[in-house]
Amino acid sequence: MSAIPVSAAAPAGEIEFASPTGLIEHLDTRVAQILSEVEASAPWAAVARGKSDERIRRVLRELYLEIFLYQADSIEAAVASIAQMPRTLPVSYFDEMLHHQVEEFDHGEMALRDYIALGGDEAYARNCPQSPGSFAVAAIWRNITHKRDPFAYLGAVYLFDALTPILTAKAKAALARNDGSVAGMEFITHHATADIEHAKLIRNLITDVAAFFPDRMSSIANGFEYFAFVYPLAVWSQVFKRAAIGDTQFCMA
Ligand SMILES: [Fe+2]
Ligand SMILES: [Fe+2]
Repeated sequence: MSAIPVSAAAPAGEIEFASPTGLIEHLDTRVAQILSEVEASAPWAAVARGKSDERIRRVLRELYLEIFLYQADSIEAAVASIAQMPRTLPVSYFDEMLHHQVEEFDHGEMALRDYIALGGDEAYARNCPQSPGSFAVAAIWRNITHKRDPFAYLGAVYLFDALTPILTAKAKAALARNDGSVAGMEFITHHATADIEHAKLIRNLITDVAAFFPDRMSSIANGFEYFAFVYPLAVWSQVFKRAAIGDTQFCMA
């Protein structure tokens, strides 16, 4: 299987990776492109150049709700995908992949704590149906599992863990420029440092796994693109719409 062409990275044809290093360079180029798209977006401007602490508070609160709504499904699918790895995979790689998910296990609860700290209603969050964006995120992770292509999982999780420390560090710096009254910073503060290590761990894992299974490098690249189709901007767009109109009750019930 070949990798899905990505417009800026591969103008035509199919991407072939000559080496694990080439794959990592490709993924890091894509992370940089997505970061540029995020920084050019209206949603990002609302936080980065936010004048109103109330507006920032609403944006972060709705963002934390999204994380809470998709995170448990993502972890469940991730662990199932890891368990689908070929049994010829060195067991130490399997161990590292699982250990990473152990460290992510309760981060939905971390997001929920921040949601509550920013005025969110815990009972509402725990009982409302998934938002369309969170449903889409969960669906991608579950379909990676359904297709039994665990190598795609590695690409998808790289987008999560490579982008998050950059975005959270930038958000932290932007929020520090305001009056510092923004509560609910546990998730951002934790991920600004923890995901630097996670990104390194996943990068090393991809390098090692790609060296072991060179014919699966395109699956890794494709998994990244599947997830990039919805994350982060498509998911965030609904967050910013809700925050802009002050409507936190997206449930139809
Ligand atoms: Fe996390
Ligand atoms: Fe992480």
